[in-house]
Amino acid sequence: MKKILAVLLVVGLLVAGCTAKKTVQTLTVGTSADFPPFEFVDEQGKITGFDVELMNAVAEKMGYEVKWENADFAGLIASLQTGKYDAVISGMTITDERKKEVDFSDPYFRSDQSVAVQAGNTSITKQEDLVDKQVGVQLGTTGELLAREIVTKGKVYTYDNPDQAFLDLNTGRIDAVINDLPVTGYFLVQNPDLALKIAFVINTDEYYGIAVQKGNTELLNKINKAIKELRDEGKYAEIYKKWFSVEPTW
Ligand code: ARG
Repeated sequence: MKKILAVLLVVGLLVAGCTAKKTVQTLTVGTSADFPPFEFVDEQGKITGFDVELMNAVAEKMGYEVKWENADFAGLIASLQTGKYDAVISGMTITDERKKEVDFSDPYFRSDQSVAVQAGNTSITKQEDLVDKQVGVQLGTTGELLAREIVTKGKVYTYDNPDQAFLDLNTGRIDAVINDLPVTGYFLVQNPDLALKIAFVINTDEYYGIAVQKGNTELLNKINKAIKELRDEGKYAEIYKKWFSVEPTW
């Protein structure tokens, strides 16, 4: 009798264990945590930022827990395609090229490009001034594509992350950095010791989306529903205000 009870107990625990595992689903999300205030690693070594809080809130609505994976931006889409991640959020612009590789959620942020130069620079004030210059960008970004269009007689330098490009700009190794405006703006505020400024903005009118594997409509629909609910409830605005100190304009 005791033996039977013991066996039943063990079986019961096993069943309970399996059920518990099934109810807490994890969503593995890839990001390139080098893009404050959207995603970066804080002093405690934790991945945080606007995208991170938004994605955590989206996942919570769906009944998932997020497992964050940090990797270089240029490799995120390939890793999503091979199934290393369920989703990617990384200040990633929805483009037609990328739409051939992955599916995107409804847009959750509007952005433009910016051109950063040394604070004392007076010779770079418009797009044409970049044609023959040394321009830094983050590898695999829309900023890189734009730089390759503009800089026909100079050279485009690619960096794994925007910070490295800004540091090279600061030492004068390159003349300018093309990067998403909100990130460059945030970097300049955070690093007042570096004598850099935004020379001008390039109005690209780009939109960030959460990427999932092509054809994963089930996940995509859930994500879109969650984004909409977060907007309706004011939670999106709350997260936005926390990271951008202003009300969302879009
Ligand atoms: N929005 C740009 C793009 O999609 C840059 C994104 C870079 N993101 C990052 N986490 N470093 O190409």
